[in-house]
Amino acid sequence: MFEMTQVTKAYRTDLLETHALREFSLKVDKGEFVAVTGPSGSGKTTFLNVAGLLETFDSGSYRLDDVDVSKLDDDARSRVRNHKIGFIFQSFNLIPDLNVFDNVDVPLRYRRMQAAERRERINSALDLVGLSSRMKHLPSQLSGGQQQRVAIARARSRVIRHCCSRTNPPATSIR
Ligand SMILES: Nc1ncnc2c1ncn2[C@@H]1O[C@H](COP(=O)(O)OP(=O)(O)OP(=O)(O)O)[C@@H](O)[C@H]1O
Ligand SMILES: [Mg+2]
Repeated sequence: MFEMTQVTKAYRTDLLETHALREFSLKVDKGEFVAVTGPSGSGKTTFLNVAGLLETFDSGSYRLDDVDVSKLDDDARSRVRNHKIGFIFQSFNLIPDLNVFDNVDVPLRYRRMQAAERRERINSALDLVGLSSRMKHLPSQLSGGQQQRVAIARARSRVIRHCCSRTNPPATSIR
């Protein structure tokens, strides 16, 4: 669950103070889908940066799955980001000299996950976006839509659970 209450953020320089978010509140329940719209300069990017724990804010509260993330230090924020937040950037931000498989692997490596589990998650994530046959390609060897799907797989790989048992066939789920 995502809950921001009266979040305020201003950008300050010696000469200028710009209020990007003023007492902004939003609650999003599990499974809800939200689109952020508004005029240029209204604070959408600032909101996404704060929500994604890329930027801090001045006042108000922000709780993610019942954790007050405003109280976390840099390392803890990075951990929450790695475990709970998936970014699909407009320009995809794939690493040009890593192939598709290795791009999806980046956030899982940061998590120091074992190789076998990483491989399963990457295979599942690439399977879900229909790119299992492109694992060895570099981003420059893919179409724009395929690059976007790699970015989606990278965002999802960290939240995919691959569950196998002897009695049941392999099943992939996203939480
Ligand atoms: N790094 C910064 N330093 C100073 N002011 C900033 C900075 N980043 C954003 N702003 C200001 O904060 C306000 C909100 O900017 P933001 O980028 O969040 O808007 P936006 O809704 O994403 O706009 P757009 O639709 O044009 O991308 C704007 O007035 C902008 O000028
Ligand atoms: Mg913007």
